[in-house]
Amino acid sequence: MKNNFNQRRRNFLKRSFALGALITSDWLVPSFVYSNCNLTPQESSGPFYPLSYPLDQDNDLTYLKDKSQKANGEIIYIKGVVQGENCEPVSKATIEIWQACATGRYNHPEDRNPAELDPNFQYFGKAITNERGEYGFKTIKPGSYPASWFWTRPPHIHFTVRSLKHTELTTQMYFSGEPLNSKDRLLQNHSKEEQEKSIVTFYKEKQKQIGQFNLTLKG
Ligand SMILES: [Fe+2]
Repeated sequence: MKNNFNQRRRNFLKRSFALGALITSDWLVPSFVYSNCNLTPQESSGPFYPLSYPLDQDNDLTYLKDKSQKANGEIIYIKGVVQGENCEPVSKATIEIWQACATGRYNHPEDRNPAELDPNFQYFGKAITNERGEYGFKTIKPGSYPASWFWTRPPHIHFTVRSLKHTELTTQMYFSGEPLNSKDRLLQNHSKEEQEKSIVTFYKEKQKQIGQFNLTLKG
């Protein structure tokens, strides 16, 4: 059993290195996390999906190509696998993410939060899964923000995944250990099992904060 685990870990590491090469970055360090293929819960895209796409919309949101300064905030690395209901990897899926900056502000005219915008943050990014269904993003941990007088949203990142053979998925990724998670109306609308699928535990490896967020699409 242990040998089997080690073999799977070695295979995963090998694949992750290949993915790093594909994304032409040295920051996608390998890791191993078990996954399951329960459906990822759907959520609405919310009010802050970009009205227009930025010129820079790659999978590194921590800097803009025409700026010399990096975005503020804690840098995090998100990677994972897009899969179907039978655990099959989904290649060529497009993943979009959008999020608030470190102060909790979206780059969107409807965001009334008075917190400062970060001129060096990309706010929106895109990735395409490789033949093994893998993807990766480098971004910053978003701040929490007020959704109303009575409700503060915990840090989260919005995801939309599109694949020709699957139903489009829009969801949100949350961070484990956030006290606001247990009070969040959207997160608490989901079953415990679904919440577990949406809440990611980050770990440190080679000075990098890494989280794995696997996404399962409906066929
Ligand atoms: Fe949001």
